[in-house]
Amino acid sequence: MSPVDDYRDLLDAARHRAAEWLDQVPERPIPPAATVDEVKDALGRSLPESTQDPRGVLDRLADAVEPGLLASQSPRFYGWVIGGTYPVALAADWLTSAWDQNGGMRQSSPSLTAVEDLAGEWLLDVLGLPARSAVGFVTGATTANLVGLAAAREHVLRAVGWDVNRDGLAGAPAVRLVAGAERHGSVDLAARYLGLGAARLVPADDQGRIVVDALADALADGDGPAIVCLQAGNVHSGAFDDVGAAVAVAHEAGAWVHVDGAFGLWAAASPKLAHLTHGYETADSWATDAHKTLNVPYDSGVAIVADPVAARTALGIRASYLVAAETGDPHETVPEMSRRSRGVPVWATLAWLGRQGVADLVGHLADAAADLAEGLAGIEGVEVVNDVVYTQVCVALADDATTQAVAAAVRDEGVAYAYTSRWRDRDVIRFSVSNWATGPDDVAATVDAVRRAVSGATLGG
Ligand SMILES: Cc1ncc(COP(=O)(O)O)c(C=O)c1O
Repeated sequence: MSPVDDYRDLLDAARHRAAEWLDQVPERPIPPAATVDEVKDALGRSLPESTQDPRGVLDRLADAVEPGLLASQSPRFYGWVIGGTYPVALAADWLTSAWDQNGGMRQSSPSLTAVEDLAGEWLLDVLGLPARSAVGFVTGATTANLVGLAAAREHVLRAVGWDVNRDGLAGAPAVRLVAGAERHGSVDLAARYLGLGAARLVPADDQGRIVVDALADALADGDGPAIVCLQAGNVHSGAFDDVGAAVAVAHEAGAWVHVDGAFGLWAAASPKLAHLTHGYETADSWATDAHKTLNVPYDSGVAIVADPVAARTALGIRASYLVAAETGDPHETVPEMSRRSRGVPVWATLAWLGRQGVADLVGHLADAAADLAEGLAGIEGVEVVNDVVYTQVCVALADDATTQAVAAAVRDEGVAYAYTSRWRDRDVIRFSVSNWATGPDDVAATVDAVRRAVSGATLGG
């Protein structure tokens, strides 16, 4: 068999298995039916001593793995913040793998650099961010937060005469990192990677938004280089910090402002939700995900820095064996050097949806969340505990034990899927509406599933 036939046979088999899986997803029970250990047993635990038939390996992989998959692409899956996958995004992702380009340099991948350059320009356009910003395609919002804070750290230290690239952090002026009490944990993680230590926390209001007056007080209470982290889209409430007002306060104090907008930044793409992101374009860096709201496959985050020089100074390197492009290479705005061209599925999705399609997608997710909240609020004993302004709905029952029991019963039944969390001193069931495929029937089926679970829990069933 020629190598070309090998590819064809295996890719046909993979396409067949993938289509079978995707066909099942909408109606399949959502929970996994096998544990990690069971899947390992099914895969076979020992490394083969000799080369195996590749088709047999592929079949064994799919057979062993499918029972243990969580159907998180289901239109009734609301766990964490997990988007589905648009067909065009998945197909473009497959092509990206087949082309197998190293997306780090213009020289190593002229075509896919072109695709990613355009994807970056279009993203800035739909998100309403400054057109000259540097865009880096990273694994997720955690890494995008790292990029924003790395550029911030380099920039605020350089402004006080300290070259962190050359001299490191030992002996450097202390950088004050200030964030809202309800920042996402990935901001803390990014700060940890960068040696910035724990953020000074500013109180948040009842929806988790940073209190801007308290931010002003925190910044006034000290001096020296400062970085402020704001949030677009709280994981519990979906609430947005008043970034316009907070940036004015932070810039007045000479601070760099980074916005974690893992899923919230997309509100800017929808005219009816854009009021939520008013003033966001005045910040200095932003983190978002395409694998959440834009519904492209994992992994796909986007790091945006208004000043491209700040991004490149923090993350770029030069080496004699690399062929550096005058205009800057993709690797200079992300932590990795070699990487897959994960901006390609982003381009394909934007090229397919267009501006109106992105606006419709984001508006659709928020509408579905509002309908879900209304339906859930109509169930006796269920309280919607957040102001539903975007895609997040949190509900609680009379006490924590009942909330946990209802969530577990919903998951066990498997028609809809949501997890619990703790917010404002009580257990809540979080519904994050992030999948393009969640339609009115899914919302209704989800409400019915919760109603069944509530009657079971309250009847002691
Ligand atoms: C507000 C916020 N920031 C950051 C993250 C981390 O994103 P990722 O898992 O893509 O790194 C999340 C994940 O849900 C989030 O909601």
